Parts: sequence; C-alpha cells; structure tokens
Amino acid sequence: MQITLTQPDDWHLHLRDGEMLKAVVGSTAEHFGRALIMPNLVPPVVTGNDALDYKKRIEQAIKDTGANPAFKPLMTLYLTETTQADDVVEAAKAGIIIAVKLYPAGATTNSASGVTDIKNVMPVLSAMAEHGVVLCVHGEVTAGDIDIFDREARFIETVLEPLRSELPELRIVMEHVTTKDGVDYVKSASKNLAATLTTHHLMINRNHLLVGGIRPHYYCLPIAKREVHRQALVSAACSGDERYFLGTDSAPHTRSSKESECGCAGVFNAANTMVCLASVFEEADALDHLEAFASLNGPKWYGLEPNSGTITLQKTSMKTPIPERIPVEDDWVIPFDPARDIYWQVL
Ligand code: NCD
Ligand code: ZN
Repeated sequence: MQITLTQPDDWHLHLRDGEMLKAVVGSTAEHFGRALIMPNLVPPVVTGNDALDYKKRIEQAIKDTGANPAFKPLMTLYLTETTQADDVVEAAKAGIIIAVKLYPAGATTNSASGVTDIKNVMPVLSAMAEHGVVLCVHGEVTAGDIDIFDREARFIETVLEPLRSELPELRIVMEHVTTKDGVDYVKSASKNLAATLTTHHLMINRNHLLVGGIRPHYYCLPIAKREVHRQALVSAACSGDERYFLGTDSAPHTRSSKESECGCAGVFNAANTMVCLASVFEEADALDHLEAFASLNGPKWYGLEPNSGTITLQKTSMKTPIPERIPVEDDWVIPFDPARDIYWQVL
C-alpha cells in the first residue's frame, strides 16, 4: 500500500540556533515544505529585526549543511510585556512574521521572558486582532499550586475563554493541545480558534513516561496525559476537521541535558513524524484524513496555498528503525521512539 499527499508543513517547530540548528534543520527540511519556527531562543526573538536575523541564520544553516533548499522557515515573535504593538503589526505587514507566540512566564523551556499577566499585553493583542495577526498560545497556567496535569484545562477556563470573550476577532491557535478538554474547547468555538497537535502526544500517554522507570526522552511540555486524553487527540486529528493541524513541537535537546537530575522538556520527532502519523492514522482507519491534518488545514488557517510538491508514504513489511541519533558537538540528540512498531517509510 502507498499513499501520496500534498507535501506537509509543520506549524510548531523548535530549530534552536548555532550548532544545534545545523544539526537538526535537515530532518525537517527533508519532508516538510514549511515550518512555523518558535522564537524561544536565549535571548528570545522579540522584534521584527530579530526575526529577520534568525531567518537568515536558518537559511544559512540550510545552505551550510546541504539541507533541502526548498524548505521555508515561517517566523514568529516572542510576546513579552514590553513588545510594541507597532513593531508586531509592521513585521506582519512586511511579511517577516506570520504569528506571535504567547508563553506564560515560566511555563516551559526558555520562557522566562514570557507574560506574567495577560492584562499586560492587551494593547498588543488588540492591535493583532485588528490587523489579523495570529496568536499562538502555549496554553498552560504556571501557578505553583496548580497540578501539572491540570494546567492546560485551567488555562482554558482562566485565560483563554476570558481573552476570547474580550477579543473575539483575535485569531488564536492553541498549540500542542494535550487534553480532551482542549480538543472539546476548540470544537465548541464558532470561529477564530484552531489547535495544533504533536506527533508524540498522538502516540504516548503518561504511562509511557513513568511506568517501569522514568523516560526522560518522553518528557515534554505540556506533559503527556492519561490515555483517554490521547484518544481524544487522535479522534480530533483523524476527524478531518479543519481546525486541527500538525505542529510537531519537535524540540531538540542534547542527550546530557535530558538525561539529567533536572532534565529538559522536549521531544525531537522531526525525522520520523510522517511515518509515525501514517501509523496513527492507519490504526484509526483514517488515512484519508492524513493529508488534511498534515498538509491542508494549516495553510488554510494561515491563508496560504498548500505546497505544490507531494510526499509518498509506503507500507513496509520490515519494521522501520527509529532514526539514528544526531551528533551535536560532543553530544547527541536522541530521536523520538514511538513506543510501537512502525511499518511505514517515506519514499
Ligand atoms: C519546548 C522547547 O524545548 O523549547 N519544549 C517542550 O517540551 N515542548 C518548549 C515548548 O514548546 O513548550
Ligand atoms: Zn514548542
């Protein structure tokens, strides 16, 4: 069996910078036409100029490493409490960025410059609503007394719903949704709300992370939830509903920074996302909706044309190996182990 799809895009990707960028960019460029590049560098990508410079560094890394030159990075800005509305609107009008990313301060890797209170960024968000600039949100509250498994659901109630009532014209993507609450909330919205779903949250639940030993390579944020939530994510992805699309959240860290006393959050799934998705959609008997999820719904939301190329996935009789670990300086990045046997390859 083989299926051919419009070439996919990744609507949530961490490429990092420097040596890490060079090490990982080829894994995404090999299969994807475009990717929405997360701005959580240290220091973060805050201004239109920062985004332009970062885009040039990505393009240079593509050249230097011989990665697929047709791959296009689409840039975002990191929303801080000192972000200027004019700078955001100008960067969007100039085509430098297509979205702004909201990280609640302290929610995840490199989010220290994020937003402590949504009220502090309302002028920027109003300007974005007025000019149709998309807001991508890391939807977790950060208060110390909120259980880590409840942080997404609490964000919906206490931040997202009030924000959407106040600014109904703001176009929002709930990034890497990990709960049934999240997919149900998106489903219930009549307009201006979409969600990305990651590869790994479609494949693992919290038992994969914690049963039989702690598996640092499955630790990411938002953290993997119960199986009932994973099943809700699979149903949403496989439904064909245009409000759900792929954002891998591929987030490389070195092996030593993950296998550590205080391991970093992030799963590196860029290299095997497409074969993993084929397996998930096949199991759900929904291979006919894979193209919508991976290649069509995202561009539609962002008002872009789908890619003109295609990708062909073929069923194999031999088990597909997990991609090789990637050397970075004197360390490695360990690719995502999908916790099941995969029998698909990209031709
Ligand atoms: C991301 C990272 O490493 O930058 N980590 C993660 O677990 N997903 C940050 C993020 O998107 O939350
Ligand atoms: Zn991310």
